[in-house]
Amino acid sequence: MTLKLILLGPPGAGKGTQAERLIEAHGLLHLSTGDILRAAVAGETELGWQAKPYMDAGELVPAELVCGAVAERLNGLADEQGYLLDGFPRNLAQAESLTSDVGEDAIDCVIHMALDPEEIVQRLLKRGRADDTEEVIRNRLKVYEAETRPLIEYYSQRGLIRSIDALGAIEEVAGRIALAIASCGQVEAS
Ligand code: AP5
Repeated sequence: MTLKLILLGPPGAGKGTQAERLIEAHGLLHLSTGDILRAAVAGETELGWQAKPYMDAGELVPAELVCGAVAERLNGLADEQGYLLDGFPRNLAQAESLTSDVGEDAIDCVIHMALDPEEIVQRLLKRGRADDTEEVIRNRLKVYEAETRPLIEYYSQRGLIRSIDALGAIEEVAGRIALAIASCGQVEAS
């Protein structure tokens, strides 16, 4: 059975870390808009040039730059291939665009990874990516609260959201996610 999954959560919740395990376990396409945008910046493409100032500031890159790149990849997939969206959608407009580009059945489970903001700041300062300065992390958290958190209610109304505690060892968090996916009725708990 194919799995169409979103990992939703604040910066530093561990979306990318858990995505790596899930794509291997379920044979999913991993679509991380953050990775797509960072590759565009590194490759000095037109998309990269346009996205960089927003990423440096911890702001959302405008939807018209992001949604097309996602739709292009999802529409090119064979019917039987599942996918994991990591960092997308990031606000209601992106969620609506996903539905209109891919269809009402674009998603069958949304895992919300909850984590305390101070734990997030400590994790990300340790990682030290270009956008992991304290000022930018705090702005990313503010943007998450204002733009992305409403998606919890949006997907909850559709019966798709499962919230898990993202604090703890990576293995432990992975176990909670496996149970949450099973409770969406898509795969057996492992
Ligand atoms: P994006 O790349 O999506 O970054 P983010 O959401 O801020 O998430 P992070 O990558 O920081 O964290 P994560 O949850 O993946 O955690 P990770 O596994 O890495 O976006 C970057 C920017 O691109 C945005 O600010 C925006 O400008 C733009 N952008 C992206 N998508 C967009 C969109 N759809 N629309 C508009 N703009 C968009 O883990 C973090 C750290 O914690 C790592 O060091 C990891 O080793 C560690 N860690 C992980 N799990 C644990 C654990 N259980 N215990 C301890 N440490 C852990």
